[in-house]
Parts: sequence; structure tokens; C-alpha cells
Amino acid sequence: MSASPPLVEVRDLTKIFNVSAPWLNRVVERKPKQFVHAVDGVGFSIERGKTLALVGESGCGKSTVARLLVGLYAPTAGQVLFDGMDIAATLRGPQAAVLRRRMQMIFQDPYASLNPRWTVRDIVAEPLVEHALIRDAAGLSSRVAELLNAVGLAGADMPKFPHQFSGGQRQRISIARALATQPEFLVCDEPTSALDVSVQAQVLNIMKDLQRRQGLTYLFISHNLAVVRHVSDDVGVMYLGRLVERADKATLFSQPRHPYTRMLLDAIPDIGMSGRARTPVQGEVPNPLNPPTGCSFHPRCPHANARCKAERPALLEIQGVKIACHAIEEGRLQPQPRSALRQEPLAAEQL
Ligand SMILES: Nc1ncnc2c1ncn2[C@@H]1O[C@H](COP(=O)(O)OP(=O)(O)OP(=O)(O)O)[C@@H](O)[C@H]1O
Ligand code: SF4
Ligand SMILES: [Mg+2]
Repeated sequence: MSASPPLVEVRDLTKIFNVSAPWLNRVVERKPKQFVHAVDGVGFSIERGKTLALVGESGCGKSTVARLLVGLYAPTAGQVLFDGMDIAATLRGPQAAVLRRRMQMIFQDPYASLNPRWTVRDIVAEPLVEHALIRDAAGLSSRVAELLNAVGLAGADMPKFPHQFSGGQRQRISIARALATQPEFLVCDEPTSALDVSVQAQVLNIMKDLQRRQGLTYLFISHNLAVVRHVSDDVGVMYLGRLVERADKATLFSQPRHPYTRMLLDAIPDIGMSGRARTPVQGEVPNPLNPPTGCSFHPRCPHANARCKAERPALLEIQGVKIACHAIEEGRLQPQPRSALRQEPLAAEQL
């Protein structure tokens, strides 16, 4: 147990989107209202200075969790506590600006998230101006130069525009901008997945280095397990809006328990076993408008039985790992150690 409380604590977080057709269409076509349970009772915490990675296939609710964490969405139910403060309540009160300074978000697409008509200096300086942290022009320029240096760019880049940079460099500009207010917590939603494979590792290494030097805490979202393995301390696996497994990185990769986690790991290419075919992820994610009953993974699960179809498994702590699976709870399914070869660290070129 760690002595200090976690920086971020998420309790029973739920976000339901109303995706119904307009009222008149529903009346004419006799259609009911429709709701997507994008995030459905998710709970986890993140220790200071650590990285929790969230993984899962497209549509499982990762970005919705990210947006809930920084207050871009209000939860339908549940709570996000940041340093003990309820963020939804704090963002409505007098401490809103202080809280916004302490957490920042980095988005997937560095092309879309930087204003093309602004210089790099103005882009990186904007949060400093908005929060009135530095008021004089010379002070702003020297702080922007410092931030650019921290991400491996130069002060001489300040008068340039985003289109003069490569994708990896643009993402570094986004990181410099996110760091401007000296946040403690960064929510990174697929920060490298729009980048070429060769520059992904560079950007990830800069992020890890900044974390070490500045004690940053990260929520890192990715559907790429090789990336997750490179950056995380702990991993949460999501399926259709729910957390199905939560473990420290070493345990998750060496002894995956949940059948869905096993399926995802079996799809990672084997290192040093080039002759061996990997097992592609089986089946498809069900329609979130009409999720399966019981365990929502049951239509794809080789271990499903009648209980799985009827009863939703709770996230329970079993041998130090949090896991939502009847078969594991009942002892029908044992942890499956992966072979030594499969545990080799992934090389940068495999990211
Ligand atoms: N603003 C919204 N309005 C309605 N439905 C939404 C909204 N945002 C997300 N959803 C739905 O919620 C579910 C979760 O979406 P989300 O974007 O959080 O998934 P994701 O895990 O980030 O997926 P991806 O890997 O594709 O980015 C999806 O079914 C999506 O269609
Ligand atoms: S609860 Fe049942 S269906 Fe769900 S993952 Fe476990 S064994 Fe498979
Ligand atoms: Mg997403």
C-alpha cells in the first residue's frame, strides 16, 4: 500500500449518451428512444507519478473516460476525484481555473489540435496567457523556449507555423503546450497513433522522460498493446464500457487472466518467433445500442456458460488483480503464464 492517497480516483463512473432519432421521426417510425452506455460503472485509481493505461477495441469507451476525467463531459453517475476534489463540482465553483491548470489533455491528432494560423510561440504561450501566469512578452518567449527545449524542439522554432513541422514534431508542440501550466496530471488519448511507427517511440520516450523529471501522472489511452507495454505501470482493459481487468503491467503481460485480455495479447506479433502465426482477435464488438446480457463478452468467449449469459460479473479482487469474470471467480479458468519468448520487451520498431 502506498502512503499517500492516489492523485486520481474514479468511482462507479457512468456516461450514457442519448442517441435517439428526433422526436417526430420516432413517432412516425414508432421507434423507441435509444441510449449508449459508453461508460458503465468504471472505477480505478492512479497513484502520483504513475501511468495507468486503458486499452480495448474501438468504441469500448476509452475516450469517453478521458473526457470525463478532465471535465469535458459531465458524468451521468459516479465521481472523479482529483487530489480529493470532486472535479464536476470543483469545475462549477471558484477553484475551476486552478483545477484546469493542474490537469491537461493531449489528443490523438496533432494536425487537428493545433491552430494552423498561429505561430508555435502563440500556441504554446496561450495557456500561460489564459491563466495569466506570465504577463510580459519577454517572459513569455523565454518560458515558451524552455518548454520547446523540454520536448526536444528549439527556441528558434517559435516563429514557425504548425505546417512547417512533421507529425511527431507537431505532437511535441502539443505536449509543450500541455505542459505550459505545469500540470500534475496528463490525460493522453492515443497520443501517438496518428504518427509513423518510427517516430512513435521518440514521442513516447520524451513523455516518459518528462514524467521522470517532473513527477507527472498519466492516464494513457491506446488500442496498441505494444505501446501500452512501453509506457504503463498499470493497465486497465475495457470492454463495452466496462473495466474487465486491472493489473500491474508485469502481471498483465506475463499472466493475463480475463479471456478478453488473453485474446488481445494473443494478437500481438511474436518477437523472435517469426515463423509462428499470431492469433487475430476473434469476433466483433457487439452493437453498443443492444449489448449482450450478462457478461457482455459472452458471445465471443470460449469459456461462456449459462451463468455468463444471465449474470453480469462484478469486478472482484482475485490474487491481487481486479477481474470481472465468472470462470476465474469459480476457478474454472486458471491464470495462463505466457512463454518466455512472448515476454521479451518489445523493440521500438515494433511499436
Ligand atoms: N458524443 C457522443 N454522442 C453519442 N455517442 C457517443 C459520443 N461519444 C462516444 N459515443 C459512443 O460511445 C461509445 C464509446 O465511444 P468512445 O469514443 O469513448 O470509444 P473509444 O474506446 O475511444 O473508441 P476508439 O478506439 O475508436 O477511439 C461508442 O459506442 C460511441 O459511439
Ligand atoms: S464471465 Fe463468462 S463469458 Fe464473461 S469472460 Fe468470463 S467466462 Fe467469458
Ligand atoms: Mg477514442
